Amino acid sequence: MPRTVTVRAPGKVNLQLAVGARREDGYHPLVTVFQAVALYETVTATARDDERFTLTVSGASNLALDPDTVPLDESNLALRAARAVAERYGISEGIDLQILKGVPVAGGMAGGSADAAAAVVACAEAWDVGASREELHRICAELGADVPFCLHGHTAVGLGRGDELSPAMTHGQFHWVLATQAEGLSTPAVFAELDRSIAAGERTVAEPTIDDAVMSALMAGDAKALGAALSNDLQGPALALAPHLRDVLDAALDADALGAIVSGSGPTVAALARSRQHALAIAAHLTAEGVAGAVLTAAGPAPGATVLAG
Ligand code: C5P
Repeated sequence: MPRTVTVRAPGKVNLQLAVGARREDGYHPLVTVFQAVALYETVTATARDDERFTLTVSGASNLALDPDTVPLDESNLALRAARAVAERYGISEGIDLQILKGVPVAGGMAGGSADAAAAVVACAEAWDVGASREELHRICAELGADVPFCLHGHTAVGLGRGDELSPAMTHGQFHWVLATQAEGLSTPAVFAELDRSIAAGERTVAEPTIDDAVMSALMAGDAKALGAALSNDLQGPALALAPHLRDVLDAALDADALGAIVSGSGPTVAALARSRQHALAIAAHLTAEGVAGAVLTAAGPAPGATVLAG
């Protein structure tokens, strides 16, 4: 009997993203505050009798998604996740993976990382490998800097490459508007633009430190204070590569957003609203202005990778 397991994992926004100078391994030291939002990647894994690994991808209906933009070859992070679980536990059978995408592709919201986190959990369950949470975290960390956060969810401080996590205290829900773009931005290209601007003396780089204003706004559930404290060192580089994102930020602020920021390495712009109603009003304004691809709304924090059925 094939064992089928369905797992969903959330996308994220970065409430703070402070980036230090490039390390020798190519990564940059980060201090970041992640918040998972209620947009999910859903991965269904079905164990096979033979050794094949297969993958199909479709888009959730709320997403102006071209599934063709997702790589289906061995570079796909969900496939790499399945291979990593098989290798770690000496599994010789293959797996069928089906991904239903609800997080923008190449949008700076960790959609690919959420696929990987969901695939790690789904494969571990489908093959019944008996992995502990710590082992799942380790496999996720090897797959990418944002993957462990997609496993854990909620709100967390990320240090190192972003994969050394500690939970952050929060109060209540925050209401986000996510404005996507038809054209994605490559994360390595945005970090490379940061490196270029530092080398050219256009910006200085400091040791990244946690922003207490973000942490106290989260703890108080104070959306206004959080909106004022949002910061992202990758926003400048993302705007240099995609100057039209400035129009999205301006349009969100025109609609009275409490704050608006490029999410991670972009190009998705995250705007913070006072309430769900206000989020819908900002979304309507961004849609009317024609500055975004799709405009979504989602609350955060949201839970991490969760088994839905299996
Ligand atoms: O770990 P992940 O594959 O998601 O990272 C993608 C790319 O983003 C890396 O290859 C690197 O160029 C950049 N990155 C970085 N510093 C980090 C995280 C990511 O330079 N802390």
